[in-house]
Amino acid sequence: MCGIIGYIGRDDAVDLVVEGLRHLEYRGYDSAGVAFPTDSGIEVRRCKGKIKDLEAIVYVDKPVANVAIGHTRWATHGVPSEYNAHPHSSDNIVLVHNGIIENYLDLKKELIERGYRFTSETDTEVLCHLIDRYSRDYTFEEAVMMALKDVRGAYAILVLSARDPQKIIGVRKDSPLVLGIGEGEFFLASDVPAFHARTGRVIFLENNDMVILSPEGYKLMDLNGNSIEREIEFIPPMAAGADKGGYKHYMLKEIHEQPRALSDTLRGRIFPERGEVNLSEFGLDEGMLRGVDRIFIGACGTSWHAALAGKYMIEQIARVPVEVDLASEFRYRRPLIGDKDLFIAITQSGETADTLAAQREAKRRGALTLSICNALGATSAREADAVFYTHSGPEIGVASTKAFTSQLFSLYLFSLIMARIGGRLEEQDAVAMIAELLRVPDKIEKIISNEDAIVAVAKELFKAKDFLYLGRGILHPIALEGALKLKEISYIHAEGYPAGEMKHGPIALIDEDVPVVFLVQRGVLKEKVLSNISEVKARGGKAVVVMSDSLLGEVRQADYTIGIPETNPYLEAVLMAVPLQLLAYHIGVLRGCDVDQPRNLAKSVTVE
Ligand code: G6P
Repeated sequence: MCGIIGYIGRDDAVDLVVEGLRHLEYRGYDSAGVAFPTDSGIEVRRCKGKIKDLEAIVYVDKPVANVAIGHTRWATHGVPSEYNAHPHSSDNIVLVHNGIIENYLDLKKELIERGYRFTSETDTEVLCHLIDRYSRDYTFEEAVMMALKDVRGAYAILVLSARDPQKIIGVRKDSPLVLGIGEGEFFLASDVPAFHARTGRVIFLENNDMVILSPEGYKLMDLNGNSIEREIEFIPPMAAGADKGGYKHYMLKEIHEQPRALSDTLRGRIFPERGEVNLSEFGLDEGMLRGVDRIFIGACGTSWHAALAGKYMIEQIARVPVEVDLASEFRYRRPLIGDKDLFIAITQSGETADTLAAQREAKRRGALTLSICNALGATSAREADAVFYTHSGPEIGVASTKAFTSQLFSLYLFSLIMARIGGRLEEQDAVAMIAELLRVPDKIEKIISNEDAIVAVAKELFKAKDFLYLGRGILHPIALEGALKLKEISYIHAEGYPAGEMKHGPIALIDEDVPVVFLVQRGVLKEKVLSNISEVKARGGKAVVVMSDSLLGEVRQADYTIGIPETNPYLEAVLMAVPLQLLAYHIGVLRGCDVDQPRNLAKSVTVE
């Protein structure tokens, strides 16, 4: 989703802003632009397309400036085009915006009546003219404050004024904005990676915070002009840097990184000899959890699939009832959640608008809130009563991979906590469950070392137009995730289903052109899924079977088999996710897709 960055300092501002935009590319975008002051006003250069297209127009007669703002746009109002790309300008004002101005049509009418001419289809342009209107009678700062009092919606904005060109004003409400404080230089951006190479000293702005950057420093105030103080935090340089590390794509790197990422999720969090999890790492204590009657989990996309698997783990291991909601639905169903309940938000970015809204709704209704989050300092983490960081490192590929498996690990740890507190798990069982957890990174290494076999399957199937993914129990959410990965990065239509539902509809789709990926687990349901495979084969379908190596001999009719190492049923969900990620990745690559930045998708969806 849109990325914004601004810079003031001694260095080449345009260079640093373009570089920052490159680090925000992962968020997903369709156009980009920069603005910087010149002797004759503020110049805007923008285009439809990627950063390399922007570079082509920025670096002809390369501008020299020590102030600049930039933007990557993910279209909401109006098609991807040069005229809809940010920065937008009015007479004196130029701005970039991430978010949505809800009452833009009313404001637009008023501004047209006042003589403003609109050149884009965006909601953002309204804000630009509105600030310009006030700037005729008020100072730059006052004009921004007054304009924002007229708008409804979500925004992170960076504003330049031709009358005050050595200043950037930034404001946030419900869209992230972080201030980076370097040596004689300052950044404002949607996300830390935009400037992390220059500084790790940051202030995460809160709603309605306004920051005024000038070469002398920064000033923080609220929208009434009162000075405010915010704590400076330090984000250490990441061990796993945000580069491709020799891989062709971030997604492949992140899939391969999982053994390390999962070890990092566990580091300092477990006491293997005692079968215990370090509760303080969740920011919780036993007293807080003892009173919990029910757990609600809210999430979107891949994180929602982790939530579904988490329900299975928490209910099976700890016997505490769990409800899982798509975060976008949660607050609209007047949820029956209260002060005896725990709400867990699962979110890689910690900035997903729907997940934040669900978390706030749960808090408003009195629930204890826990954020399982990957991005350090993200809004979800800061607003929750407690946070568990998955620590899987920056995830750049739009399609989530290592963040997903680390969310599953986190939920497994949380299940063990709840089970021990509720007296549902003997020490020796907990010891065995943690010992098995520690073996998972090596088992994933083993799956990855068999990548060629998965590539071979991808080569056979990459031309298919539809795929089905079927699993039961905890493997149902993994089937959903396998289907989501494939559709996200290869644009093949794919559906995940509980295998037992195949006969109630999806079976109608089966013919020789539809591959069906079966996820099979040991236990009472195994025979039933094996029968589903026969039903597919009887209708001419192609069966791809993923199951533990030791069971593969029992599969009678598979066209392709992918084996995984033996583990317990909960962790099998983690292992099973990996070959599905690789299958989707290789199919996407064989189809020539942009797997790291699939069309229309955004890494962090900061609008509802
Ligand atoms: C977007 C991403 C998905 C992600 C979802 C939820 O749709 O493309 O990969 O699963 O948002 O994101 P979150 O950061 O809240 O986990």
